[in-house]
Amino acid sequence: MTLSAGAAQPVRVRAPGKVNIVLRVGSLQDDGYHDLATAFQALSLYEHVTAHPASGMSVEVSGTVALDRVPLDERNIAVRAARLLAERTGFDGGVHLEIVKHVPVTGGMGGGSADAAATLVACDALWGTGLGRDRLLHIAAELGADVPFALVGGTAVGTGRGDVLSPALATGQFEWVLALSEHGLSTPEVYAELDRHRARHRLDIAPPPSAPTVPDEVLQALRAGDPTMLAEVLSNDLQAAAFHLAPGLIDVVELGEGNGALAGIVSGSGPTVAFLAADQDAAIGLQVALSAAGLVAVRAHGPVPGARIEP
Ligand code: C5P
Repeated sequence: MTLSAGAAQPVRVRAPGKVNIVLRVGSLQDDGYHDLATAFQALSLYEHVTAHPASGMSVEVSGTVALDRVPLDERNIAVRAARLLAERTGFDGGVHLEIVKHVPVTGGMGGGSADAAATLVACDALWGTGLGRDRLLHIAAELGADVPFALVGGTAVGTGRGDVLSPALATGQFEWVLALSEHGLSTPEVYAELDRHRARHRLDIAPPPSAPTVPDEVLQALRAGDPTMLAEVLSNDLQAAAFHLAPGLIDVVELGEGNGALAGIVSGSGPTVAFLAADQDAAIGLQVALSAAGLVAVRAHGPVPGARIEP
């Protein structure tokens, strides 16, 4: 199939960043990935991708977060997403991608994954490839473990690499405050540090779960829409590894928990620290306290929908 005609108008899509409410990491598999179980929540911190008609493939990036670690060549995950969609559909044209970033780069909040998901939706509409959700989810999973969730959004349980999703019922709105870090952490390095940590302490700590699951208490707290209940069950197996690579994060968690956060947790592979607040007023107070201490703190709520075309 060769497609080359699509919408002549640019298509603008937004996709959310995420926090892992719980992240349980099993052992390293032969494919280089760890088996895991996670509960994702999509947050109101968005990446915007506009797909413009063009003959070649190109990308430009701007935004409110530090951009120096974003590659602008073929390594850019949005460019890879566009190329993979073109390859899978036989589309022989191009696209110019204009990305506006608000999710911290290499911050553990799935910003790159959101760029990829937004690009798939935008190019699918621009090129008229009409793949539909299921095939887009399939291509998303090839691009990265967290990309399918950025398409779906909301609150969901992820298993396998994190790419096998089932929706989780969450009522109400949760208020989060995110403490951003100047320096990023590389996701593969954090997973590798966890493996080293487990090898070093194999006599004192429990072995990695052979079939990790999301604890029932987490699903109950989400269903109840109760932030106090949820704060008690936040957990992240990557946190110890992130603390080892970036020890300053321990003080950040303590600072937030001492200034009104119900609980704080490293988001995914870090270094962003996500604090859960009791309500919007508490979130504002916490944001002010973290900012006064010299940190960059932003507020977001969740859950929000996945990648969507903007009017
Ligand atoms: O899929 P993605 O490119 O986001 O993953 C980046 C890296 O994170 C992988 O190459 C792997 O080292 C690590 N990872 C893992 N197990 C997962 C997800 C990611 O080991 N389930």
